[in-house]
Amino acid sequence: MRPICNYRCADCFSGMGTGTRQLDGALSWDETRRILDCAHDLGVLSVEISGEGEPLMDRTRLEQIIQHNNDLGMLTTIFTNGSLLDENFLTLCVDNNVSIAISLDYLNQEGYEQDVCRRGSFDVLMRNVELARDILGGYQISDNGSAVYRLAIHSIVGGRNLDEISRISDFCGGEVGAEILHSVAPIANVGNAVAHPELTIVSEEMVNDVVDEFSRGDLILCDSAVDECGSDRCATFYYGLGIRHNGDVLFDAHAYETAGAIGNLRDSDVNFDLGVLARRQRELVGLFYRDFGAGFCPLRHSNYADFVRYLNGSRDD
Ligand SMILES: C[S@@+](CC[C@H](N)C(=O)[O-])C[C@H]1O[C@@H](n2cnc3c(N)ncnc32)[C@H](O)[C@@H]1O
Ligand code: SF4
Repeated sequence: MRPICNYRCADCFSGMGTGTRQLDGALSWDETRRILDCAHDLGVLSVEISGEGEPLMDRTRLEQIIQHNNDLGMLTTIFTNGSLLDENFLTLCVDNNVSIAISLDYLNQEGYEQDVCRRGSFDVLMRNVELARDILGGYQISDNGSAVYRLAIHSIVGGRNLDEISRISDFCGGEVGAEILHSVAPIANVGNAVAHPELTIVSEEMVNDVVDEFSRGDLILCDSAVDECGSDRCATFYYGLGIRHNGDVLFDAHAYETAGAIGNLRDSDVNFDLGVLARRQRELVGLFYRDFGAGFCPLRHSNYADFVRYLNGSRDD
């Protein structure tokens, strides 16, 4: 999706509002469809749109992607700030096997609007969350006994909102069995967060305690990694391939500093073959875990900046 947003969150991964995002070179619909078709041919089951911006700002393209994924039998998950949700879009989600994660880090008007930098946004969000709860809320029990949700609230914990998370958890309905899955993750010190030390200079232990206590579902973590490599890993990173609006492939979703190190789908030696780029990305994943560190998320790892320097240095050589 194109990197455009109607908010300017203090912690934004994607650096929205800093004027650093290039809008040009966006993939056409034909190119996007080609990528989705290739993903399907490679056995991809699920497409996550976690946004370099707000996905609903580019609604025509978003709806094209949702419908095409569903035609191919792939699931779609969308992260959204929730401001532009409406009944038509939520019904389209029901009809096309889409799950939604709405971002919410503060359950009070002042804290929320200060964070997203938009006056009047809290009431709009509360109205839209209730609409989403009516249309997408609840869960089904799958064949393996897991509860499958269509609607989540995703909260990022940092230095300013440690006390908000229990209230958001109650708002979702508390324990497993609630209408909204509450997923909680620690803040990463990248993007806009770098200029906001009040968000990131916080005891890691306190943040992890809040995550452990209140995160009701592993929207981010995949259990399968524990058997395979002995620890939790981010599922987006472990199984996924991050693709930007212009076809650049990233080391991980939101790892914009790594753009160019792996390649672009339009490169003549790639020609939209996702498999080629996925293999290059997997080699770098191996190198990251071997030489730079462990942990569930590379962007949250203290050696991430060193890894980026290494990547960019090896490209210059
Ligand atoms: C970058 S946003 C894009 C999608 C949409 N605009 C939204 O806000 O949900 C995707 C997710 O990243 C989270 N996020 C943003 N900045 C972050 C940071 N510095 N650390 C961890 N998560 C962050 C947001 O809260 C959101 O849930
Ligand atoms: S976190 Fe999402 S809503 Fe907030 S500025 Fe970034 S892209 Fe926009």
